[in-house]
Amino acid sequence: MIDFRSDTVTQPDSAMRDAMANAPVGDDVYGDDPSINALEEWAAERHGFDSALFTASGTQANLLALMAHCERGDEYLCGQQAHNYKYEAGGAAVLGSIQPQPVENEPDGTLAFDTLAAAIKPNDFHFARTKLLSLENTIGGKVLPLSYLAEARAFCDQHQLQLHLDGARVYNAAVALGVDITAISCHFDSMTICLSKGLGAPVGSLLLGSKALIYKARRLRKMLGGGMRQAGILAVAGHQALKENVDRLAEDHANAHYLAAKLDQLEGFSTTSYSVQTNIVYVDIASHIDRMRLQMRLKEKRIEVALSGNPARLVTHKDICRADIDTLITAMKASQ
Ligand SMILES: Cc1ncc(COP(=O)(O)O)c(C=O)c1O
Repeated sequence: MIDFRSDTVTQPDSAMRDAMANAPVGDDVYGDDPSINALEEWAAERHGFDSALFTASGTQANLLALMAHCERGDEYLCGQQAHNYKYEAGGAAVLGSIQPQPVENEPDGTLAFDTLAAAIKPNDFHFARTKLLSLENTIGGKVLPLSYLAEARAFCDQHQLQLHLDGARVYNAAVALGVDITAISCHFDSMTICLSKGLGAPVGSLLLGSKALIYKARRLRKMLGGGMRQAGILAVAGHQALKENVDRLAEDHANAHYLAAKLDQLEGFSTTSYSVQTNIVYVDIASHIDRMRLQMRLKEKRIEVALSGNPARLVTHKDICRADIDTLITAMKASQ
């Protein structure tokens, strides 16, 4: 199967499977898993934070961050398109009693500071207490400029807010900008990283933050049923992903550009309204094309795409090479 639906579909390679098979493990709820302890210590230092926590998913890591920063009756500012607002089942509100205050994302994915400032509630008992600004990078494949991150830090300092980054794909951002990851992470009080997206691990995310924040998050993780036992089997895969699979993200970005250029040459397809910055390609599909029929035809040829949205989203990752893109384009031409 050639699968363009997401970068979450990658298969662990044989070196990763070997590392998993041979991982030293222990009961992580007792703090006894050497592989998890090694990952958490390494990740905290590597990204410039005091502490790190291995979590079951990006959703769990974001929820822990929101619940660790905010108490019941607090609120967080975020984008309308933020994953931790729109696509995480309302977890912060449902489980944390935390009010989201979304504002429109600008076309480049940023949030305008004047809009954010207007959304901050006065210190008055009528209102929820605004505690946190949550950004996402990359967002819809777009990279937030470093200058914007510095401004966001200054904005939060000025308004006494904490600053969180949903960094599910933060390594795609760092590779696209050609900077070390710490040029991004240095601005944030907390950051998540998904190990199971473009980085290619099968399961797991990290939450990074201060000692106090991670201490609180560890307790919340237990409460939410996320205290895992011999999960070092997963942590070694994540550790390997962070050490081996970062630089190659540039290939995914180059492949995404290639894919967009090829799609543009097809009648009825246009990517020109969207900029490809990392591994995500958006494409407008003309109304005369039956998207669901095309998707089914491609599936018969063992190519998975998700065309229900318009624009449709196609994603490149380590299990997609140039030849796979050519196969897709040939199959699309034949299926129309
Ligand atoms: C930006 C972003 N944040 C968080 C998540 C959640 O990650 P998970 O699927 O591991 O819960 C995703 C998942 O696609 C995502 O795209």
